[in-house]
Amino acid sequence: MFLLFFLYSFIHIQSILAISGRVLQACTVLEDQVFCYGGYSSASGGVFTNVTNDHYTLDLKQADLTKARVASEWTSQEPSSNSPPLEPRSNLQIAALDNNRYMILGGRHGATPLNATAVIYDKTSNSWTGLAPPPPFDMSEGAMVASDANTVWAYGGKLNGTSNAAPNNILKMDISSGTPVWNVLPMSRNGPPISRYGHAQAMRNNVIYFFGGFLNLPEQNLKPNVVTFNSLTWYNTQSDQWGNVPTNGDIPTPRKYLTATLLPNSSQVLLYGGTATAKLQALPLSDYCYIYDANKHQYTAINLTKNGGAGGRIGHSAVAYKNRLLILMGYDGGGNILNDVHALDISNPEHPVWAGETPPPSDPDATTIPDNSDSQGLATGAIVGIVIGCVAFVAIVGAGIFLWYRKRRQRENSNVDYITPPQDFQLDVPPTMFAENTAYPTKKEPDHDHSVDQSNDPVPSYPVTKPHEEETNSELPRTKPSSSE
Ligand SMILES: *[C@@H]1O[C@H](CO)[C@@H](O)[C@H](O)[C@H]1NC(C)=O
Ligand SMILES: *[C@@H]1O[C@H](CO)[C@@H](O)[C@H](O)[C@H]1NC(C)=O
Ligand SMILES: *[C@@H]1O[C@H](CO)[C@@H](O)[C@H](O)[C@H]1NC(C)=O
Ligand SMILES: *[C@@H]1O[C@H](CO)[C@@H](O)[C@H](O)[C@H]1NC(C)=O
Ligand SMILES: *[C@@H]1O[C@H](CO)[C@@H](O)[C@H](O)[C@H]1NC(C)=O
Repeated sequence: MFLLFFLYSFIHIQSILAISGRVLQACTVLEDQVFCYGGYSSASGGVFTNVTNDHYTLDLKQADLTKARVASEWTSQEPSSNSPPLEPRSNLQIAALDNNRYMILGGRHGATPLNATAVIYDKTSNSWTGLAPPPPFDMSEGAMVASDANTVWAYGGKLNGTSNAAPNNILKMDISSGTPVWNVLPMSRNGPPISRYGHAQAMRNNVIYFFGGFLNLPEQNLKPNVVTFNSLTWYNTQSDQWGNVPTNGDIPTPRKYLTATLLPNSSQVLLYGGTATAKLQALPLSDYCYIYDANKHQYTAINLTKNGGAGGRIGHSAVAYKNRLLILMGYDGGGNILNDVHALDISNPEHPVWAGETPPPSDPDATTIPDNSDSQGLATGAIVGIVIGCVAFVAIVGAGIFLWYRKRRQRENSNVDYITPPQDFQLDVPPTMFAENTAYPTKKEPDHDHSVDQSNDPVPSYPVTKPHEEETNSELPRTKPSSSE
């Protein structure tokens, strides 16, 4: 009884110290700190509600990243007095510019206008600056990456907080002159004819990769117009070229609300989470982790279920920090909006495991290090007491785990594709499949090959000119001449 009371109070105190759960927030790392902005804090009637303007930070130098579940002590980061008030946002775009600054763009709930659509946060001065001139448009459910401290590239999503598609163009911002210069880049021939939303972007060697999402087409009965993973759309920011490369390996189920993170010093992009349904408050897929090898154009399914970990989720955040990839917050298959932080050990980028687990041995002779931690120096009485306490604890926890596991097994057996639907969910209609650039339903041009860049390895080697251009330029244009299409 006392033990139960003790456990209950302990859990209760923990949740008071922690921030409340979030979904569809934006997080990034500046130096040794994670910063998260906004997101929804609750759900009701099949949608997420209570969009917040919270800004909070987690010091990774203080955090114990040796275990899968990171005990996180967030600090609310109020803006300095001369900063504009923070506006509530969800589904916003975020990109770290350097060790001190990150930028957010768009994101909001409904049609509430934003006073400042693009804002830069500076950690040193803890200040926010609304960018002027503002961008020609902004989006929610798009994605954004930075190629250097002064340049960001945003694409896709829904326009200005409406349900309409954002333009099928990359929105580029260059702030190297001190004043932002916005550029809506014309779409070139090998680019996608329709934009997407709920996708993820990762950048490597000046090339942006576009993972998943749903096509920006009208959805009937929430039937998603999915983008398959059979090929991968890319955009080279240096040569201003779009392309599409066939992929192989374990092709992921189409999805939105996933994250894609380039693992440091590697060619591996880790995809996490996502859902195959078009609703806002949607169930995560059970195949929630893949590694994409950008050299081999190959996907590998990663089974992370063994010891629990973060599990399938949507609307979470993922940030890389040293040899860890943190999975933060989001919405799980049990209908919970989460406030937790999990750490993946990415020391071997091809074999991520939850921190604290032994990675799969690359050579079968690998030995496990014996755990010879403190077993000496305690009086016998104390040991007996501890043993009794531990046995009781293990028995309680074991019973709990057994019950949970049995329940989970029962649910899993009855449902192959989705993780444990809460009771108020119905499974959705099967999605319509469109292979990228090969079977878009509209805008087909019969007389030229717009399907696939046949080059097997488009990323390291590029033609100096675009395939449809006749003349040879010795210089790569940074932006395309607007008259070219
Ligand atoms: C969410 O907002 C509703 C009203 O919009 C309010 O009644 C409710 O208490 C809020 N929930 C939380 C958790 O803040
Ligand atoms: C937005 O601007 C209006 C008018 O200037 C102001 O009244 C309002 O407080 C601002 N809202 C936020 C969240 O900054
Ligand atoms: C989107 O919002 C911007 C202001 O942020 C405005 O200038 C632009 O006209 C809007 N675009 C559309 C299509 O409504
Ligand atoms: C993943 O691993 C767990 C536990 O090892 C196993 O039960 C499950 O079948 C595996 N899933 C897949 C898809 O291989
Ligand atoms: C990546 O490489 C750089 C330079 O070799 C090194 O300083 C850095 O620690 C590496 N990062 C990781 C996560 O291994």
